[in-house]
Amino acid sequence: MVNTDTFVPDAVEEIETEIGDENAVIALSGGVDSSVAAALAYEAIGDQLTPVYVDTGLMRKGETAQIRETFSYMDSLRVVDAKDRFLEALSGVTDPEEKRSVIGEQFIREFEREARDADADFLVQGTIYPDRIESEGGIKSHHNVGGLPDVVDFDGIVEPVRDLYKDEVREVAHELDLDELVAERMPFPGPGLAIRVIGEVTAEKLEVARESCHVVEEELEEYEPWQALAAVVGKATGVKGDNRVHGWIVSVRSVESRDGMTARAQEIDWETLQRIQSRITGENENVSRVVYDVTHKPPATIEYE
Ligand code: XMP
Repeated sequence: MVNTDTFVPDAVEEIETEIGDENAVIALSGGVDSSVAAALAYEAIGDQLTPVYVDTGLMRKGETAQIRETFSYMDSLRVVDAKDRFLEALSGVTDPEEKRSVIGEQFIREFEREARDADADFLVQGTIYPDRIESEGGIKSHHNVGGLPDVVDFDGIVEPVRDLYKDEVREVAHELDLDELVAERMPFPGPGLAIRVIGEVTAEKLEVARESCHVVEEELEEYEPWQALAAVVGKATGVKGDNRVHGWIVSVRSVESRDGMTARAQEIDWETLQRIQSRITGENENVSRVVYDVTHKPPATIEYE
């Protein structure tokens, strides 16, 4: 386990030494990893750090507002509205790995522009230990590892939480007094809701996934899942009012895990599942069916793509 008493001052000192008087950028994702990395770097070098948040339109409900609030103390924060550009780039793309690569490339384009504008010499990243393992093992092309450094010619890359597991990053977040919501928020994949809609990414499917994920996160909070989510997995016939409709199928998933490498589907009581079903079908006119995923990892993965 990480010793937070010494971790924070050591990390701050290391960042200060590495970056010195130069400028740095970090891409904020809204997740705990990049938030902790940003908070550490900001403590070390203040406004020499430009935190960049790219609003891809693939984020969780309320995420952009939350980021603005949490990091409002950083004067150099930049929020980029790239929602339309991401949707455009993803149009017609159905393959999961291709989605990741399109999103990664678009992200790089957006970020590169900001990095140049900020005259940044260093890149700070919130890469954690399991990201490195999974990426090195070629399990999935995590777009937050690799990619960025290849395009912008940085003098160096600083990864202050590279040796930590997720639960250790959370401990550090508490130590840094980061917003409780950020510190305890469950992991969210870099490609965001794009991998929680099967097939082509459309504004309609994204909205269903976003609202459904929000319901699931709220309703399952007491179960303290490592990750809970909802995905738009296809279409099915249903009856709404007096009409038969061909609506979306939303699959709900809630898992326990330590690091995401293996996971167990959680046992959820019927009443809670029914409440989730009723909220998702009630709040989303075009959802006709809600199912609960009982598969562990392996053989399934946590996400749907
Ligand atoms: P899977 O679905 O592989 O997910 O069981 C394991 C953990 O990784 C997250 N995940 C990703 N994170 N980029 C990311 O930054 C990705 O492409 C990606 N795919 C999956 C997933 O949410 C879970 O926490």
